Amino acid sequence: MRKNIIIGNWKMFKTNSEAVEFVKEVESKLNIGDNLTAGIAVPSVMLSDVKKVAKKLIISAQNCFFEAEGAFTGEISIKMLKNIGVDHVVIGHSERRDIFCENDEMINKKNLALLKENLTPILCCGESLETYESGKTKEWVKKQITEAFKNVSKEDAKKVVIAYEPIWAIGTGKVATPEIAQDICKEIRMMIKDLYDESVSDVILIQYGGSVKPENIKEILSQPDIDGALVGGASLQVDSYLGLLK
Ligand code: 13P
Repeated sequence: MRKNIIIGNWKMFKTNSEAVEFVKEVESKLNIGDNLTAGIAVPSVMLSDVKKVAKKLIISAQNCFFEAEGAFTGEISIKMLKNIGVDHVVIGHSERRDIFCENDEMINKKNLALLKENLTPILCCGESLETYESGKTKEWVKKQITEAFKNVSKEDAKKVVIAYEPIWAIGTGKVATPEIAQDICKEIRMMIKDLYDESVSDVILIQYGGSVKPENIKEILSQPDIDGALVGGASLQVDSYLGLLK
């Protein structure tokens, strides 16, 4: 039986003190069952302080660089993240792909580097509205998944969390229907089966992301191939975040 994993992706919102307050308040009201992993992916400047107050929540980074160290101004290494106890990192988010020109090769390098250091990658994939409307979603996602898992061993592949996030549903209020989300998440599980075998595809966790809210999360998570959610806007307020975990 696969666990559910719900992660709030804060993107570039909140200050350090707001983040610490948020975590304290959420943790004082939170009861996480054994079958759920819950967390937040916060801007890197807050990771250290937030990590110190988080006892129940997973604290994830939103990005990292794949090189161990060097002249890479503005980047954050995996060693730096490990040193403050961060063990989850979002990679390949569509905003990083589109705005910061990250390509599949870079995302594969990040995936490999994180797995080598025993951190959990939350690997995002998903198509644009144009790709969706031209009926090419599965092809598109297959390329992203195949490239991201290049040279990843079978044992390591099991540790990756995949987040399927159709770009047209991110921050638009336009949520993919549970049927569409299920269809693509099932397809992703089949892709993993083809790349490895059932021992990987049966255990790998697949999240859906894109306009998930307390009001629609239950229906999305009730789909057989969806094991969690990556949530932007609705993870920023304490009540709404707690509503997602109910
Ligand atoms: P929204 O939930 O705001 O649509 O954002 C989704 C997302 O991009 C999470 O990574």
